[in-house]
Amino acid sequence: MLSKTIETALNKQIRIEAESSQVYLAMAVWAEVKGLEGISNFMYDQSDEEREHMLKLIKFVNERGGHAHISELKAPNVTFKSFKEMFKKLLEHEIYVSESINELVHISLENKDYATHNFLQWYVSEQIEEEAMARTILDKINMIGDDKGGLYLFDRDIQQISVVSSAANDPSA
Ligand SMILES: [Fe+2]
Ligand SMILES: [Fe+2]
Repeated sequence: MLSKTIETALNKQIRIEAESSQVYLAMAVWAEVKGLEGISNFMYDQSDEEREHMLKLIKFVNERGGHAHISELKAPNVTFKSFKEMFKKLLEHEIYVSESINELVHISLENKDYATHNFLQWYVSEQIEEEAMARTILDKINMIGDDKGGLYLFDRDIQQISVVSSAANDPSA
């Protein structure tokens, strides 16, 4: 059975994951309108992943006798100066989510909720991977600079960046 403190903290994270999904959906739309098809598809996938993170939390809360709260969401930023700025925002957002997960881990230990602590370890690993992926992308963007040909190749190859990044972090791969 979840304590009220833990239930409230997990519900806050449910909202953050839902907002993350919206943030990345807005990025996907922006990139699509700009004709950056590869980047757009990549961001649609990221948005779906965040929804999965949210659902996993919802199931956990409900299974442990809590009640997952579906709340209103903050409207995301919908325009960006450049795709580089967009990916900077993505990294900033992932760092913010990591901090929130860390806080949640802290609260679970403080409250001696070891089941929740154990459940959260998946999110801890996931955040390491997502931050690493965002940094890899920004490194590539910095290499490209203002080169239009580079952007063309980047847009074409971005789907592979994520695959390589997650494979590098998966011990079974
Ligand atoms: Fe997430
Ligand atoms: Fe994420």
